[in-house]
Amino acid sequence: MQDYHDFLAEVLIDEPTLQARITELAQQIDRDYEGKKVLLVCILRGALPILVDLMRHLTVPTAIDCMAISSYGVGARESTGQVRMTLDLQTNISELDVILVEDIVDSGRTIGQVMDLLKTRKPKSLKVCTLLDKASRREVQIPIDYRGFLIENKFVFGYGLDIDEYYRNLPFIGVVDLNKYKPGL
Ligand code: PRP
Repeated sequence: MQDYHDFLAEVLIDEPTLQARITELAQQIDRDYEGKKVLLVCILRGALPILVDLMRHLTVPTAIDCMAISSYGVGARESTGQVRMTLDLQTNISELDVILVEDIVDSGRTIGQVMDLLKTRKPKSLKVCTLLDKASRREVQIPIDYRGFLIENKFVFGYGLDIDEYYRNLPFIGVVDLNKYKPGL
């Protein structure tokens, strides 16, 4: 397995900056949901780190659930346009205040389809929180209520974002130098 230092072009967002912004997002959510309770929905798998760090800073009563959606083909670097649900929620979200939590919104297809599906289940409210927003790539216009960082169209990894399923564990967001990354090594 290649060491990430071999193909790291730059650290785009370092750990202290990530954590400080996530703390701010939690404070914003706390203010907006004062007197209410909230259900955070983690869109597996990339949103795991932000969900965990976000929830630890929230003071409003918080429940969590997970769903899994696949939008990229195995090994693919770009959205294929194919979105399928591979794991559904356990929670009945009818009459609940729900926040969908994502690591990144790119074309917007994934979160758009998730929203379309979940709206049919009549939540009291449905909002979107994403750590990263590649707005320049958007094909499906969706409202983003809580955005960590607006980023350029670079191939990023770490803090939930994978390269061929690995490196999600890194505590920062890095940019891949595709000339140096060797798949399979
Ligand atoms: C990534 C990411 C979003 C989606 C964004 O998920 O976590 O869900 O792609 O792309 P879009 O806005 O173009 O739809 P992926 O399918 O790679 O799964 P993962 O979270 O398990 O990495």
